[in-house]
Amino acid sequence: MKLKDKVAIVTGAAVGNGQAFCQRLAREGAKIMIADIADASEAIERVREAGGEIEAVRVDATSEEQTQKMVRKTIEQFGRVDILVNNVGFYHEEPFELISFDEWKRMLSVNLDSLFLTTKAVLPTMKTQGFGRIIALSSDTIWLGTPYLVHYITSKMGVIGFVRSLASEVGKYGITVNAITVGLTATQRPANEKLVGSILEHLLPQQAVQRADEPEDIAEVVAFLASPESSIITGQTINVDGGVARH
Ligand SMILES: NC(=O)c1ccc[n+]([C@@H]2O[C@H](COP(=O)([O-])OP(=O)(O)OC[C@H]3O[C@@H](n4cnc5c(N)ncnc54)[C@H](O)[C@@H]3O)[C@@H](O)[C@H]2O)c1
Repeated sequence: MKLKDKVAIVTGAAVGNGQAFCQRLAREGAKIMIADIADASEAIERVREAGGEIEAVRVDATSEEQTQKMVRKTIEQFGRVDILVNNVGFYHEEPFELISFDEWKRMLSVNLDSLFLTTKAVLPTMKTQGFGRIIALSSDTIWLGTPYLVHYITSKMGVIGFVRSLASEVGKYGITVNAITVGLTATQRPANEKLVGSILEHLLPQQAVQRADEPEDIAEVVAFLASPESSIITGQTINVDGGVARH
């Protein structure tokens, strides 16, 4: 168990990819704190059923006050914070000319303010510990120039700039900062299934590997980047999308 005695905060893990990350990190022995605006009972149940240690705190990851509370609660509960997976994300397709200024700000706030605030909140503890793993979720659309996603792709490209620059500042404290660009993933939400199914029909022929990305595929990369074994990898962006984007 590579993450025994390590503590991970996973944001936006009530459903979707984040759930799979919690299960995978717990399998490596990490104790998990879910930080989500929604009820995370299902994710908690799955991890506990498998014998993992997990709690949740209701957090809006775009609130400075609440992200500070997230870290206080984690330290109260588990005594430390070693890993932050900022998985919170908002996705919305709209032609550029129809994107309102409010939608633009919401996109940047959920996808970028969350990364800024959650990182700010965990960094002092990671520095004191001399160990930290910050993992941010981006999207393979940043390599593809997909239309109707100007606000989304701008925010997810911002994630790349964030990890590149911050990595240079915190490497000396044993902290790494990396991003994962995720392809369209077959998350298990009923609302997603039909949409993902129809998009996958068009997308699969473009993939080198002819099957849908599963949340578990991304979770493997998260577990590796969270582990002590990845200590020499930082400021990087790892693409997990079946080989659609090559960069
Ligand atoms: N699913 C995909 O196909 C795909 C593709 C590329 C990138 N991604 C990225 O992967 C990440 C996870 O995607 P997903 O599809 O599992 O997402 P999802 O929409 O299924 O889940 C997002 C979670 O974030 C929570 N959340 C939203 N706003 C929040 C906030 N302000 N504070 C706290 N929690 C909040 C929601 O309650 C939800 O539990 C996102 O960053 C997304 O952009 C996903």
